[in-house]
Amino acid sequence: MEIHRYEKLWFGLSLLLIVGFIGTITYGAVGAGVQMVSDDGGTVEPSFSTINENEKFAQQEDNQAVHVEGNEYEVAVIAQRFSFQPGTGSPIQVPEDSRVTFYVTSPDVIHGFSVVGTNANTMVIPGQIAEITVEFDELDSDEPKEYGVVCHEFCGAGHEEMAGQIQVVPEDQWEGDA
Ligand code: CUA
Repeated sequence: MEIHRYEKLWFGLSLLLIVGFIGTITYGAVGAGVQMVSDDGGTVEPSFSTINENEKFAQQEDNQAVHVEGNEYEVAVIAQRFSFQPGTGSPIQVPEDSRVTFYVTSPDVIHGFSVVGTNANTMVIPGQIAEITVEFDELDSDEPKEYGVVCHEFCGAGHEEMAGQIQVVPEDQWEGDA
């Protein structure tokens, strides 16, 4: 059987394309650090009273990251229609050069928790505590650095206004526990 030269060429190219597609899908699935929202952070009945009694949320008294050990900190955030607590109104404060694990849950509907300009991003599902760890580098000045936090899941009439802030505080200005 005679196969035309151009036909062979197109055959080869389309095979290459398929291999390329599989390659990008594989990379997206395992290489880019993207994970399904798991219940690693635990589960909690989606109501304010039970969330507030949860160990992680009970220790979150104000907007400051809670010290765990070394440079590790934790912040528990309630994402609700249409704010982050803490985060909206006054920013979540974390020290520079730290590794911060955010525990985020919702008492009402599905929200998102996305740190603008970074790849830190999780879905927030009622009943599940999303766990996401973010590393904050040392600051290159004495000025605090701010990151926006936005909700990226449509959650109702106030969705587009659902936003907050994270403030990375220089070490010598850090007032939380260390
Ligand atoms: Cu919360 Cu959109």
